[in-house]
Amino acid sequence: MDKKSSEKELLHNDDESKSFIKQIYSVIRENWLAFLFALIISLITIIAVPIVYSIETKVSTNNGSNLAWNVTGITIFNTTLLASLLPPESQNLSLGLISAIGFDDNSNLYIVDKTYHRVYRLNKDYNVLKFIGSANGLAGSDLNSLNSPHDIYIASPNKIYIADTNNSRIVCWDPSIGNLSLVYGSTNSPTNPLNSPMSVTMDSNSIMYVADYGNNRIVSFNINDKLPKFSLELASNQNNERETYVITPITIKYDTTMNSIIIAQETGYNVIRWDTSSTPAKWTLIAGSASSELSGTSRTLFNKVCYANVDPYGNTYVADCYNQRIQYYQGDLTKGRTIAGVILAKGTNPYLFNQPTSVTLDKDNNLYVSDSNNYRIQKFLTV
Ligand SMILES: *[C@@H]1O[C@H](CO)[C@@H](O)[C@H](O)[C@H]1NC(C)=O
Ligand SMILES: *[C@@H]1O[C@H](CO)[C@@H](O)[C@H](O)[C@H]1NC(C)=O
Ligand SMILES: *[C@@H]1O[C@H](CO)[C@@H](O)[C@H](O)[C@H]1NC(C)=O
Ligand SMILES: *[C@@H]1O[C@H](CO)[C@@H](O)[C@H](O)[C@H]1NC(C)=O
Ligand SMILES: *[C@@H]1O[C@H](CO)[C@@H](O)[C@H](O)[C@H]1NC(C)=O
Repeated sequence: MDKKSSEKELLHNDDESKSFIKQIYSVIRENWLAFLFALIISLITIIAVPIVYSIETKVSTNNGSNLAWNVTGITIFNTTLLASLLPPESQNLSLGLISAIGFDDNSNLYIVDKTYHRVYRLNKDYNVLKFIGSANGLAGSDLNSLNSPHDIYIASPNKIYIADTNNSRIVCWDPSIGNLSLVYGSTNSPTNPLNSPMSVTMDSNSIMYVADYGNNRIVSFNINDKLPKFSLELASNQNNERETYVITPITIKYDTTMNSIIIAQETGYNVIRWDTSSTPAKWTLIAGSASSELSGTSRTLFNKVCYANVDPYGNTYVADCYNQRIQYYQGDLTKGRTIAGVILAKGTNPYLFNQPTSVTLDKDNNLYVSDSNNYRIQKFLTV
């Protein structure tokens, strides 16, 4: 191509593009409304996509450091609902002391009623109820009954371990069959290793840990062979070392983020962490009284510890029951933050409690509290 012809070509192209632009102008003139609409849609897309994306990223990468909850609770369970769901021939239709609550992977809610010796399972719409224990709410020691159960450990939808406290045993409930099997301990036996076990948990190596409340110790064994795993007993006043002292352990939870056990000690007024690999066994304080079983109303003290729980991110939740509040300890912080309830304010309105006895989260990080003397379970939405 010589220079001239290429210029001509350019000129020609220029003419073509001019007429092309003219055509576009005329199309826009005729369809300006449609173009305006397309422009708005494009702008919305450009603005909205990053916002939606960032919200999604925030949820999926939540590392538990920015959890917060609405302080106004919603009642999801109470005596009225229980009475409407129990079989009509049942007796003792009211709700007793709810000592523990928890969810399985299918979002069924489990509720431990210590007074009426029953564990309820509610489906996620709260309209179907199953239960273990006598329909009349009476205590018993056979494999259809419980006696003052205190806590549960939910291993799978079909394996619910129950600390059957007054029977001094750990039992397993399979809700798909409806029966119980004995796991550890034995009722009315002089050689029973357990004395009023309050709580039970398990690690990923099938080691079960029991808060053996009446013996002031933690008992652990392999769930498959029932052989003691740790001969270490954190007995009271062992060597007079305060940091090995276990007293009235009321809840025990396994913290997968730190491969350690979280223990709430009722009259120790504290929540401690036990790294099971340390020898001799030694605990570190998460919250509460370090050395003198001191109660109080400050950010670092408790006024009776009823329950402690740990979330998948390693944050700790404590039902500080006589202070009428739920305390939250982010990561390894020892100063608590009140996330539900108001210090020493007992009441029935949606942001108060009358003795909160247990606390748990669902898989969306909503918070649930058993408000025992109000005979209700309150739900606090994440915000
Ligand atoms: C908390 O819940 C209350 C009652 O449901 C509602 O009115 C309020 O807007 C919520 N607050 C936040 C921050 O979500
Ligand atoms: C239980 O909760 C339901 C729904 O929130 C409410 O209508 C009912 O009055 C409550 N019952 C009691 C005994 O508080
Ligand atoms: C529960 O029901 C039984 C009758 O089945 C009754 O004798 C008992 O007093 C009731 N318990 C309570 C605490 O109301
Ligand atoms: C449970 O055990 C305690 C302590 O031994 C006892 O005071 C209580 O009456 C028992 N409760 C039942 C329902 O057996
Ligand atoms: C329930 O009963 C069946 C049949 O009697 C038995 O095989 C099973 O081990 C029992 N316990 C549990 C927890 O499934």
